[in-house]
Amino acid sequence: MSTYRAFRIHEQGGGVESLPLEPPAAGEVLIRVHWSGINYKDALAVTGKGRIVRRFPLTGGVDLSGVVEASAAPEFAPGDAVLVTGCGLSEVRDGGYAEYARVPAEAVIRLSQNFSLRDVMVLGTAGFAAALAIHQLEHNGLAPGQGPVAVTGASGGVGCIAIDMLARRGHEVVAFTRKPEAAPLLRELGASEVHAFETSSRPLEVERWAGAVDNVGGEVLSTLLRATKGWGGVAAVGLAGGAELTVSLMPFLLRGVNLLGVNSAATRRDKRVLLWQRIATDLAPRHLDRIATATVGLDDLPATCAKILSGAHIGRTLVKVGA
Ligand SMILES: NC(=O)c1ccc[n+]([C@@H]2O[C@H](COP(=O)([O-])OP(=O)(O)OC[C@H]3O[C@@H](n4cnc5c(N)ncnc54)[C@H](OP(=O)(O)O)[C@@H]3O)[C@@H](O)[C@H]2O)c1
Repeated sequence: MSTYRAFRIHEQGGGVESLPLEPPAAGEVLIRVHWSGINYKDALAVTGKGRIVRRFPLTGGVDLSGVVEASAAPEFAPGDAVLVTGCGLSEVRDGGYAEYARVPAEAVIRLSQNFSLRDVMVLGTAGFAAALAIHQLEHNGLAPGQGPVAVTGASGGVGCIAIDMLARRGHEVVAFTRKPEAAPLLRELGASEVHAFETSSRPLEVERWAGAVDNVGGEVLSTLLRATKGWGGVAAVGLAGGAELTVSLMPFLLRGVNLLGVNSAATRRDKRVLLWQRIATDLAPRHLDRIATATVGLDDLPATCAKILSGAHIGRTLVKVGA
């Protein structure tokens, strides 16, 4: 094949185009892409509603899984099954919405035998961020039996996977969603309670959470911090509901609460390898087939991404790219 299909994002608009196939440069791997997925960040990039892409034009898609076609790096050989999440894809370098991708070997992770190429894209950046959030919470001292762990924006990709992983680790999980219709699925994934979130504005609330994974930000994150138990942590993953944080210092100074940052895209390679090992073993979700709720093709991306930004979807949307 001398050309391949790719979803290109321009400063104004985007769509599927045909590009010339080039061999990998030194240190790069050429991957035949099988699957990608749609993260919130992808939806912002494809619709142009957020400043994600930093050089134009660029192929979209923060994540990809596929098989090495050619390698100019000693760590990988043709036929290796691999995945990439973050690492500048769809920001400063071409991403996974294409039949082929050239990626620096440093960004490429070898697939665990426990997962198929499709499974790892049900996870994708959403699953990696959920794992990183839980890893940070555990590093802060969270252990099963300390009390409930809250997950907000629960019906989204990060939310569903975080519930599945936390329940598997033996935590009591309380899910918060704006969608009553998502409650049966969230219980199936492992939530013991499902509620709509109520924000508050008092400096401190009754201590309730041993920990929390927050995908919403704004007033929701502020309220979680005010109700977190002494020495507990809140992992700030997302800002689907707002990028501002208004909170007094009381939770930090009187209860020793910790606000834990999560940046999945720029995680160091050694930690990325470690976390993907954990995702394949002690954090492995048990309900990936229930979390994957839709599959689309490259041509469907604009309409699907607009729907995702409206917050109407549940779970993860996969993109079937090739093979
Ligand atoms: N820090 C990182 O490394 C990292 C990595 C991945 C994702 N993220 C961020 O984490 C968040 C979740 O990502 P995702 O892939 O799970 O996205 P997603 O699948 O689109 O889910 C986002 C969820 O947030 C809730 N939500 C959406 N709009 C909202 C609003 N206006 N107010 C309150 N809640 C709203 C909805 O859940 P309910 O309807 O159930 O409430 C929605 O399903 C996003 O902000 C994303 O950018 C960060």
